[in-house]
Amino acid sequence: MIVRGAVLREMGLAAPYAESRPLRVEEVELAPPGPGELLVRIRAAGLCHSDLSVIDGSRPRVMPMLLGHEATGEVVESSAAGFAPGDVVACAFVPACGTCGPCASGRPALCEPGAAANTTGALLTGAHRLSAGSSIVHHHLGISGFADHAVISAHSAVKIDPALPPQIAALFGCAVLTGVGAVVNTARLRAGRSTAIFGLGGVGLSALLGAVLVGAHPIVAVDVVPAKLRLALDLGATAAVDARAPDAVDQVREATAGGAEYAFETVGSAKVLEQAYAATRRGGTTITVGLPHP
Ligand SMILES: NC(=O)c1ccc[n+]([C@@H]2O[C@H](COP(=O)([O-])OP(=O)(O)OC[C@H]3O[C@@H](n4cnc5c(N)ncnc54)[C@H](O)[C@@H]3O)[C@@H](O)[C@H]2O)c1
Ligand SMILES: [Zn+2]
Ligand SMILES: [Zn+2]
Repeated sequence: MIVRGAVLREMGLAAPYAESRPLRVEEVELAPPGPGELLVRIRAAGLCHSDLSVIDGSRPRVMPMLLGHEATGEVVESSAAGFAPGDVVACAFVPACGTCGPCASGRPALCEPGAAANTTGALLTGAHRLSAGSSIVHHHLGISGFADHAVISAHSAVKIDPALPPQIAALFGCAVLTGVGAVVNTARLRAGRSTAIFGLGGVGLSALLGAVLVGAHPIVAVDVVPAKLRLALDLGATAAVDARAPDAVDQVREATAGGAEYAFETVGSAKVLEQAYAATRRGGTTITVGLPHP
């Protein structure tokens, strides 16, 4: 079938993008799902900073690529066990094969065949289902959700409650699983543990919600945008620190009575990672989530 989607053909074009227009909405050919794959009608997709990192070339990927790796949709056609037309799914940006070493040991975020497929811009099966003329258009992290339809591996799909509004459900494909996953699975944060979160974008706010969920205390939210700091306080942060202040790290250490037991970097900046480390208490843990230029 022919689908319309936002294709990136060249990374690193000059900003402002309103003029250079790196993303073009094109008509591309989408092949039917192969074994273990689903055809999904996309209902909503989120814009993650990692999309921008492909566009600006700081996290290079194989070109051309139909972008978008955080989406939700309805299964239209299923060639996979356990999924039927009408199922509503979140499309997760790390396919989890379920059988490799990391998957079998309970760390599906580190799935090895999943990472290999994502690196080559293919689906988990190794297949490419997108093309334009005689050339392949690569899949973005197994999803390519900036389109009206996508073919994805069933290992990239998680069935969700259809009542969830699509614009929220889409975030479960990246921001929520990344931010909440860092808190709950990587840090194994517990009630009463002091926590600092640097960066309050989709990922950082999800980490904040995860920290509130497990009862961490105190929770210090750090950003450079005052409106984000106010939102963080509304969502359950106990203190907010403006990162533009020269003594921001000291403020975090003070609000956590000597340093956070867990400090999360969710900006994607080496400098902020240094600050998160400096704000971590002796014996504490600094968790890096953001993706600065390698
Ligand atoms: N590890 C993963 O699997 C994974 C998944 C998704 C996103 N990421 C990465 O996580 C990072 C965040 O993604 P996002 O979509 O939430 O980004 P975003 O752009 O929505 O949010 C970044 C936030 O950081 C704030 N910020 C900027 N400079 C700051 C500073 N000096 N100090 C404190 N805050 C500052 C911004 O105001 C913004 O609120 C990106 O690097 C992204 O590529 C990693
Ligand atoms: Zn993302
Ligand atoms: Zn695996």
